[in-house]
Amino acid sequence: MLGTMQNTPVEDSTGRQFTYLRLSITDACNFRCVYCLPDGSHSCSSAALSSGETEHLVTALTELGIQKIRLTGGEPTLRHDLIDLATRIRKVSGVEKLGITTNGYRLRELARPLRDAGIEGLNVSVDTLSQKRFFVLTGHDLLNQVLEGIETAQSLRFPSIKINTVLMKNYNISELDAFFSLAKSTGFCVRFIELMRTQSNKEFFDQQYISSELVTRKLEEEGWKRGSYHYAGGPAHEYTHPIHPGTIGIITPYSKDFCLSCNRLRVTSRGELRLCLFGNRNYPLRQLLKTPDQKPELQAFIIRLLKHKPASHLLSEGSYGNTTNLAAFGG
Ligand code: 5AD
Ligand code: SF4
Repeated sequence: MLGTMQNTPVEDSTGRQFTYLRLSITDACNFRCVYCLPDGSHSCSSAALSSGETEHLVTALTELGIQKIRLTGGEPTLRHDLIDLATRIRKVSGVEKLGITTNGYRLRELARPLRDAGIEGLNVSVDTLSQKRFFVLTGHDLLNQVLEGIETAQSLRFPSIKINTVLMKNYNISELDAFFSLAKSTGFCVRFIELMRTQSNKEFFDQQYISSELVTRKLEEEGWKRGSYHYAGGPAHEYTHPIHPGTIGIITPYSKDFCLSCNRLRVTSRGELRLCLFGNRNYPLRQLLKTPDQKPELQAFIIRLLKHKPASHLLSEGSYGNTTNLAAFGG
């Protein structure tokens, strides 16, 4: 029966359809972002799904309607077999778009092989454009290297390049002009993400959380126009300008309607399905990824699990599930 379901997106109990997979391929990271892994990562990538297991997973999920995949981490470029893995995933029938979210530290040398592997969407985290502050925020003096990597990617004409910037009261609010200029001068999409509370960042969150309203106000004052929102484009509300190139996006995980448009599934690097970024449980899939003939069983299991996907996270009520930090699930 499942064989006839090719590319018909599965639905959860509230009717949301899942076409997008965020696939963490390692939970290790080499950066120490203040809100995520201030003490560094203690994970090792050896526990991650092999490329064979990943291929089985992706094949099963595309038949359930997943069309777009984003490789995340930790830091996905720490995987030594990244290019081979990306190439294999891109070739799976039904994968229409493949993207990656990276901290950018290896982008200078990886931009070309990633593009050749069929990656179209490149999201790079850049929380500050000040070299000094970059060191404070990430533990590495690598801002220029990251920016050069982004320039290399631009010269290779990736169809989509986005910069992710997490808003922090005392670190980068003073840089809004610089980020706006970056969008205008490059034509990229700069997306401001509201800081999210996790199990491990309470103190930091209490000091640094700031709503994105001041960005919205600035956008309106400067004549940016809010585009019509479409859930398939991701969680950001995007603004364009009648004169300038580039777009500016705002991601507000705490807004009450954020979850209504959720079209995404997450799988951790160890092969566990997470129904919500801020959920309480991971559902191990690995035992069903050993051989291709386990596919029907795997698909039936996933369909059953989706019936339990919660309608919304409970962040505003102070519940953030068992999310220790976002490195574990790729944001
Ligand atoms: N709040 C908001 N964004 C976060 N990210 C990681 N942790 C958090 C958090 N606590 C972002 C990263 C990256 C994306 C994958 O998730 O900066 O851009
Ligand atoms: Fe690493 Fe991303 Fe976490 Fe920064 S936010 S420490 S780059 S996983």
